[in-house]
Amino acid sequence: MSNDKSNRKPFFRITLFLVCAIVMFLALNTLYSFTNTLQRLDVVESERDQWQRPSDVLRALDLQDGNTVVDLGSGAGYFALKLSPAVGKRGQVLAVDLRKLSLFFLWTRALLRGDHNLDVILGAADDPRLPTGSVNAVLICNTYHEFSTPERMLNHVFQSLRPGGRLVVVDRAPRAVEGEQAHEVSLPVVESELRRNGFEIVSRDGQFIDRPGDLWWLVIARKPNSNQ
Ligand SMILES: C[S@@+](CC[C@H](N)C(=O)[O-])C[C@H]1O[C@@H](n2cnc3c(N)ncnc32)[C@H](O)[C@@H]1O
Repeated sequence: MSNDKSNRKPFFRITLFLVCAIVMFLALNTLYSFTNTLQRLDVVESERDQWQRPSDVLRALDLQDGNTVVDLGSGAGYFALKLSPAVGKRGQVLAVDLRKLSLFFLWTRALLRGDHNLDVILGAADDPRLPTGSVNAVLICNTYHEFSTPERMLNHVFQSLRPGGRLVVVDRAPRAVEGEQAHEVSLPVVESELRRNGFEIVSRDGQFIDRPGDLWWLVIARKPNSNQ
């Protein structure tokens, strides 16, 4: 009997060693992919800086030190990370997305950069879960066309803004491809949805980015002041 037990010992040790080795391998592999993706994001984003006109988008938001700004549909944080220094230490960036993984990448990137004024929010498809009446500006870049209920989203954005607060929407114009369903959304459609939801149009640029086969528009809207 005791001989049987001692025979089993090496078997358990080898199994334990193999399980530990597999767990270590999987953990290192996940860490490697994660850091690799973080590095790739930086490379892709610096290439995007060449054509996306990020400083003009930030200027359109008219941010001041200490402001609260929302990046709605933040993804992994191309704009959210640029908004963080723009509102300073006293300010706050609220980055909203539906995808937990994108928000996890953004949260990690903000942590690594020491951007302590950035919070991530897991939104719902028809509700960005924003605070009411305290936001100075909202950015929706390359995301409006993905909204399944744009009017409900606009209503939530409107409620979140302070009177006079800004909303900047940037998106790709529909391409005229015969027989293909347009995935993009046009500036006139968005403008009329903005007006229907109580926004005033401050300005628009139908050719904000004009690259061969790639046209983007930008619209600046405003929640009216309460005395208007
Ligand atoms: C094409 S990506 C753009 C990301 C980022 N704005 C940028 O310019 O790099 C669109 C993002 O919007 C998010 N999204 C789509 N619908 C949304 C909604 N209703 N609320 C919050 N995020 C949404 C998607 O999960 C995705 O991360």
